[in-house]
Amino acid sequence: MTPEAIQTILEVDRIDTFYGQSHVLQAVSLSIDEREVVCLLGRNGVGKTTTLRSIMGLTPPRNGRILFKGIDISKKPSFQVAQMGIGYMPDDRRIFPDLTLFENLELARRLSKRGNVQWTFEKVYDLFPALVNLKERKGSQLSGGEQKMLAIGRALMKNPDLLLLDEPSEGLAPLIVQNLAEVLGRIRDEGVTILLADQNLKFCRRTSDRGYILEKGMVQFQGTMEAIWQSEEIVKKYLVV
Ligand SMILES: Nc1ncnc2c1ncn2[C@@H]1O[C@H](COP(=O)(O)OP(=O)(O)O)[C@@H](O)[C@H]1O
Ligand SMILES: [Mg+2]
Repeated sequence: MTPEAIQTILEVDRIDTFYGQSHVLQAVSLSIDEREVVCLLGRNGVGKTTTLRSIMGLTPPRNGRILFKGIDISKKPSFQVAQMGIGYMPDDRRIFPDLTLFENLELARRLSKRGNVQWTFEKVYDLFPALVNLKERKGSQLSGGEQKMLAIGRALMKNPDLLLLDEPSEGLAPLIVQNLAEVLGRIRDEGVTILLADQNLKFCRRTSDRGYILEKGMVQFQGTMEAIWQSEEIVKKYLVV
């Protein structure tokens, strides 16, 4: 054990989130310690994206609380949540198509209102060497995998303490998925806590310490990735298509 006490960085406390009349998240709770990598698992439509959007303030919860470093952020607008140190890669990545890869990163750097400058172009290119030769390429001309790397790099340029990644492994070739798992480990080693939503159990096992399994907008199981991996019953019930 390190001498410093383990700190909870994010506490989601029984949130209910709606789209109009549709009650999607039902009393979802989760808790993440600093420097953990935690994943949200579950089939399509169970509420993974909505959980990340709730944390980001994009679909704020109607009930419950979300504490980031002890501060209630559940009613804060998303720009403020970002400024407090939560980075977000949405599932559709939102790369600016008419800007070059470099300009996409540069824009994020300029928008970073945080005092710390932990992440630089060099460090992002160091994580994703494949991006170096694409600096002048327009966002619209990047492949899905390249856009994903850029979207993670862009989120890092805002120097977050907590990084939310929606479906990072989706649609990537197996070799790239393996490489991405290693990259997430390096991001964590830099002190960034990660919460990811992904349907790829192997990828989650490789990257994450713990997992939360969602179904019908509720947490059905939580435990170490090893416990999830070992439980045939859980995998069959909630994860296998
Ligand atoms: N913008 C929206 N308006 C209405 N319902 C939505 C919207 N986005 C998602 N939903 C519904 O909310 C539920 C959870 O969706 P989502 O959080 O995207 O699940 P996941 O990310 O696990 O696939 C699904 O039933 C989905 O149809
Ligand atoms: Mg989703």
